[in-house]
Amino acid sequence: MVATPIRQKYDIKDISLAPKGKQRIEWAAREMPVLKQIQERFAQEKPFAGIRLVACCHVTTETASLAIALKLGGADAVLIASNPLSTQDDVAACLVADYDIPVYAIKGEDNETYHRHVQTALDHKPNIIIDDGSDVVATLIKERQHQIADLIGTTEETTTGIVRLAAMLKDGVLTFPAMNVNDADTKHFFDNRYGTGQSTLDGIIRATNILLAGKVVVVAGYGWCGKGVAMRARGLGSNVIVTEINPVRAIEAAMDGFRVMPMAEAATQGDIFVTVTGNKHVIRAEHFEVMKDGAMVCNSGHFDIEIDLKSLGAKASEVKEVRNFTQKYTLPNGKSIVVLGEGRLINLAAAEGHPSAVMDMSFANQALACEYLVKNKGQLKPGIYNIPTELDQEIAALKLKAMGISIDTLTDEQNEYINSWTVGT
Ligand code: ADE
Repeated sequence: MVATPIRQKYDIKDISLAPKGKQRIEWAAREMPVLKQIQERFAQEKPFAGIRLVACCHVTTETASLAIALKLGGADAVLIASNPLSTQDDVAACLVADYDIPVYAIKGEDNETYHRHVQTALDHKPNIIIDDGSDVVATLIKERQHQIADLIGTTEETTTGIVRLAAMLKDGVLTFPAMNVNDADTKHFFDNRYGTGQSTLDGIIRATNILLAGKVVVVAGYGWCGKGVAMRARGLGSNVIVTEINPVRAIEAAMDGFRVMPMAEAATQGDIFVTVTGNKHVIRAEHFEVMKDGAMVCNSGHFDIEIDLKSLGAKASEVKEVRNFTQKYTLPNGKSIVVLGEGRLINLAAAEGHPSAVMDMSFANQALACEYLVKNKGQLKPGIYNIPTELDQEIAALKLKAMGISIDTLTDEQNEYINSWTVGT
């Protein structure tokens, strides 16, 4: 057997973790049939031959299947972490050792290392950037304007990144095409809702081992992620309160049967708080003041800015690690607040992120969005593009088939009816 040459260009925790990573990647891949089919087609067609690609994602077993698809498709791909706490070190090791994919990601890396890895990724002079939160694209625009000429385009995974891209477009600095993977139907309906819903509670349970039945869970934000968290918390018997700033979403939450109130009020009632708003300091000093003794706070939004931990830290007389990913802050009034996962994405910090079955569709969108950018190189004006409906539908059809579900098709009569305006009452 000819040994695969390993590029000694990587920054990971421990290469000897590779066999464990391989086993876990293969386990996750059982639930990713759509991406598997894309891998097989890419291996034949090599759509990324000659393309330098940077993927900035949570380095998980699911991301591994995406990275393998890109590599099989001929990409010269480099992978970095999109969050300092979300890397699965065994996965990083396996991608380097078994697939010759350079990975720069270590679970628990400090902010300086995280930013150094972003720079290393940009040294690769990417033609395509897959971003999750838009840190690589923002750094490219701020610090490496001269490299934009190399770029065919970018794809963005998450709501926070799309909000940042829209701000770049408004400021006239987004001078290349960006594919909005987040808003594909086969992405946010499933990943944001069922993925965040399940994995957030998984993270809370793994970090604390508490019973959720009978607890008051406060969910800040009722977007797709908040809907998922609220729905699953209710399913486990929690009494759920939703806080919102958007009146339409607040009505939705109320009509979905949740109590809706401002955070100032919810703060006095909650046992567990989960932020999923994408905004800053949703839980802050005035809220910590009135919380119950032992209240737990965590975040499942992209950045660790939703809970004002600085103000909590400044107030605390003691901060103690009481379990993995669980820190108890003691306040001068004698009460304590428990912070999970350092205020970073709890589903990836304390658990393993969204389950593979939903990431299958999210990453099928990523893979096809990259192929779309290559196929349309030079044709797309700067801007933010939705995933074409045909691709979204193709992913849905493949997923449905893999799930063993068949559905009806329109009869000729129905087809004619819905395409006509002449027939009324
Ligand atoms: N984002 C949320 N969950 C994820 C996962 N399992 N893999 C990659 N990115 C994710």
